[in-house]
Amino acid sequence: MNLKTFSSHFITVDFCHHLSDHMSATSYEVFRIPIPPSKADIMSYSQIRLLGLKTNPEAFGSKFEVESLRTFAEWKARVENEDRFTIIARATPPNGGDGDCVGTASILTPAMVEQGPDVYGVVGMWVHPEHRMKGLGRRMLEFGIDWVRERPRVKGGEARRLVLEVHRPNEAAKALYGGLGFLEAKEEKCEDPNRIPMFLVVE
Ligand SMILES: CC(C)(COP(=O)(O)OP(=O)(O)OC[C@H]1O[C@@H](n2cnc3c(N)ncnc32)[C@H](O)[C@@H]1OP(=O)(O)O)[C@@H](O)C(=O)NCCC(=O)NCCS
Repeated sequence: MNLKTFSSHFITVDFCHHLSDHMSATSYEVFRIPIPPSKADIMSYSQIRLLGLKTNPEAFGSKFEVESLRTFAEWKARVENEDRFTIIARATPPNGGDGDCVGTASILTPAMVEQGPDVYGVVGMWVHPEHRMKGLGRRMLEFGIDWVRERPRVKGGEARRLVLEVHRPNEAAKALYGGLGFLEAKEEKCEDPNRIPMFLVVE
């Protein structure tokens, strides 16, 4: 199934209107997409990911034009990968219902990051503009950090590190990461000179 047609309709009409209707007393939950994921989980993730890429192209290394061509099987393979901890923030209206996904972030294991056996990565952090400054970015990242902390240590290895890249002018993201203790890795450089490498030692 090609998600392109479906996703652009979802982004421009249904999603935004539906959210605005329920903004007054929204509650939030942050959770990991289970493995194996349901079809609904896969759809939710693909929609929020594409919405993020479309809304804030400057924030990511990947592009909406590329990812919107992904098939359902490709999205499925991404979220059921054991080396990816895929986090979702969901907004639920007080009168119930399934709620809407309004944020996502993922943690990649050292097997995917390939910077050493103790190095995990943060990718794809995005919160819907109507739900920013409510602590969701922080909650998702804390959830991911807790997961890293619970992962087995490499015997005789170094302290686990969580690494990420941030677009230099992105003050919101720098505030989020800095607030959680991430530091700039001054001795390292990103391929893109407009991006800054940051790291957190996870004790
Ligand atoms: C960056 C982003 C994920 C932050 O999400 P959020 O849910 O609004 O962040 P939170 O509400 O959890 O805020 C976390 C901290 O950052 C600060 N912050 C968030 N947005 C800020 C802004 N625009 N300016 C200054 N500080 C900001 C908050 O005050 C908070 O500070 P605290 O830790 O001292 O309390 C969100 O702005 C976003 O999705 N941006 C577009 C995509 C993006 O840039 N992703 C990052 C890619 S590296």
